Amino acid sequence: MIDENLSVKDILEWYVWAGVDETLGEIPFALAQKTETETPLKPLPKVNDVVKTDSTPQKSATIETRKATTDLAQDTLNARSNAHKLCAQATSIEELKKLVESFDGCALKLTANKTVFGGGNPQASIMLIGEAPGADEDRLGEPFVGRSGHLLDKIIQAVGLTRNDVYITNVLPWRPPGNRTPTTAEVAVCLPFLKRQIEIIQPKVLVLLGGSAANALLDNEDTISKLRGKWLDYPLSDTVQIPAMATFHPAYLLRNPAQKAKVWGDFLRLKLKFL
Ligand code: URA
Repeated sequence: MIDENLSVKDILEWYVWAGVDETLGEIPFALAQKTETETPLKPLPKVNDVVKTDSTPQKSATIETRKATTDLAQDTLNARSNAHKLCAQATSIEELKKLVESFDGCALKLTANKTVFGGGNPQASIMLIGEAPGADEDRLGEPFVGRSGHLLDKIIQAVGLTRNDVYITNVLPWRPPGNRTPTTAEVAVCLPFLKRQIEIIQPKVLVLLGGSAANALLDNEDTISKLRGKWLDYPLSDTVQIPAMATFHPAYLLRNPAQKAKVWGDFLRLKLKFL
């Protein structure tokens, strides 16, 4: 029950306190209001009622659902193919950045404030890849500038590096609302942009921060716990592989500080092999 004495400001502050940091539509939903097209709920059958089964409406609903699913899959394939074509036009990171900013094939762009492209040194031999921008990155337009970014800075400093020695990017250039996990379709559509960044930068080694980056680039569904701690290969082409190290995401370390030692160990192995 909402206290009628609360001001709009009080209510909004309560939402922010509760973790709601997004408004997704400009038109409010009137959930309690009945619309013309709303189908009335069927009354539940009583215990002794004979329930007649008629499969026709169910069948057509299934066909509708299947069609919608097929349309969605086709949209994803078209968007991914457009992303591929765009990427082929880019020969430098600056060109690719402009093309990503102009791309309208991923709905995440509609809810994001900024396109967050890669940052750091495009000549670097080490490329770090996260999942997607968070609220701070979405506000500032730069990757890893929030709490996870500060922890990442400490991790790379521990092996004698700064942001100027690495290139940092994400699987997705747009923030998923409320930091939800990206969908398979969103990853599929945006992956060509990430792959083109790798082709242009040609790093000596990739550091995959968390399961989303590892699964997207290694094309598997293994958990990050299974993937971390091993040297893996990212296929740049049919003949060239780039060594890749998967490790826990800094956001995970903020929630599970006891796992930090493993990541420090991973970066030390990186240092021994590549620095
Ligand atoms: N988490 C990510 O994966 N990427 C960012 O840029 C920030 C937080």
